[in-house]
Formats: sequence, C-alpha cells, structure tokens
Amino acid sequence: MAHAVEIRDLHKSFGSLEVLKGIDFDVEPGQVVCVIGPSGSGKSTLLRCVNLLEQPTAGTVVVEGVELTHRDVDIDAARRRVGMVFQQFNLFPHMTVLQNVMIAQRRVLKRGKAEAERIARENLDRVGLSEKAASYPAQLSGGQQQRVAIARALAMSPSLMLFDEPTSALDPELVGDVLTVMRKLAEEGMTMLVVTHEMAFAREVADRVVFMDGGVIVEDGPPAQVIGAPRHERTKSFLRRVLDPTHTDV
Ligand SMILES: Nc1ncnc2c1ncn2[C@@H]1O[C@H](COP(=O)(O)OP(=O)(O)OP(=O)(O)O)[C@@H](O)[C@H]1O
Ligand SMILES: [Mg+2]
Repeated sequence: MAHAVEIRDLHKSFGSLEVLKGIDFDVEPGQVVCVIGPSGSGKSTLLRCVNLLEQPTAGTVVVEGVELTHRDVDIDAARRRVGMVFQQFNLFPHMTVLQNVMIAQRRVLKRGKAEAERIARENLDRVGLSEKAASYPAQLSGGQQQRVAIARALAMSPSLMLFDEPTSALDPELVGDVLTVMRKLAEEGMTMLVVTHEMAFAREVADRVVFMDGGVIVEDGPPAQVIGAPRHERTKSFLRRVLDPTHTDV
C-alpha cells in the first residue's frame, strides 16, 4: 500500500542557512508520528515544507501518491489535502465560530452554504463545541479557540493533519482538552504529523517518534524506544531537558 506521506532527501535553506539537511521518512495511513527536538532544529520548517507553505530547496514530498514538490503540481489542490493547526489559532475575530469553520469551505472548496454549514456543525461536534457555534472567538478560552481551529482544518476533509505545537500557547489547565480531541482523531484513524513537547502524549498516542536536531533526523522509532530507551546521546540530553526542566546538563 502507498505511504500516506513520503519524504525523500528534503532540503531547505534560507539564504546561506541550511535548515533541513536531507530528511527522509514515511508516514503510513492512519499513523500518528510525533516530531520532537530542540528549538531551531527545523521542526516547523519541515511541517511547512509538507504543506508547501515553504518551497523545499531540494527533495520530494509525496502525499497519498501526489508529489507536492513536482513543478507541474496544482499547488492549491495539493495544499487542500493537508490540514494544518498552528500554535496561534488565527481565527477571524469578527466572525462567529460557525462562520470561521465555514469560510474556507465556501471560498476554497466552493461548497454551498447549506453543505458548508452542515459540515461545520459536524466538525464542531467532533471537537466538543457544538454549543459555541454562535460565539465569537474572543468569548472562548484559548483551548476552545484551538479546538475551533482544529474543526476548521477538519472541515476541509484533509487526508493528513499537521499540528505545530498546538498546545504551547495554552494555559496548562487547557492543554488536556486539546490533547483529548487529538487523541480521538488518532483513534478515528486520521493520519497525523505532530510537533509537540508533550512527551506523555507522544508516548501514549504516537505510533512513531522522530527526534530532529540540527536539521537532520537523529532517531526514528516507536515511542518506547525513542523516548523510553534513546540510543543517541543528543536524544538523551534533549529528553533530560524536557522531562526535567531544572536539569542543567546540556
Ligand atoms: N523564513 C525564514 N527565514 C530565515 N530563517 C528561517 C525562516 N524560518 C525559519 N528559519 C530558521 O530556520 C531554523 C529552524 O527554524 P524552525 O522554526 O523550523 O525550528 P523549530 O524546530 O520549529 O524551533 P522551535 O522549537 O523554536 O519552534 C532557525 O534557525 C530559524 O531561525
Ligand atoms: Mg517551531
């Protein structure tokens, strides 16, 4: 069976700064892959290359058999296959929750109003926010706003969801609700690529954990191996730091 995502020898430079130095990995359909690594290691750049927010300098990205990096590809069509959730929710403040989840469906997918509204309500229900459809973003908690952003991405019927530190901007007591929604999506079989510092989530939900450092993949394997029994010194020292922030041995 085809891989859901296939990344081959992916490079990305900004001017003379080489941020991704040859990334190779696959995600199988329905798999959850968590990407961990220190600040500046290229995690966000990797995700941004997967949905073409950044143009890779070299290498290929194939999503469900379509090579997004092919020069003849329809970039808009390709990008629609991939949903993305960021640290910042980026909801439109002057629109209700329902309108926020409908607008891209209407504008990009050209869905009719009734269909877009039905799909919006289905996905708000999926993230547990049916009763907030008529609210404005400012009336919601950060965790609720992030769940709206997830519903908005899901409403586009993506075949792959990318998450870039979706809980990092949230107060600690709001993190759990967002992770619960992500865990449910994983159980429903959504293919997910998740950059996160939530090691407990990665351990529990990820099929694989990829540890990146300095623009390369240092370790890639099941969470019990990469987090539980890391082989490389760089992975060990990173994990010591995230699992015990008071640890100064870097
Ligand atoms: N648009 C850009 N122009 C120039 N340099 C960039 C750009 N985007 C990212 N970089 C650089 O690329 C490197 C990797 O950045 P990236 O945001 O991918 O790291 P990250 O692993 O996501 O870090 P963090 O954990 O802090 O989010 C950094 O040195 C960053 O300054
Ligand atoms: Mg980042």
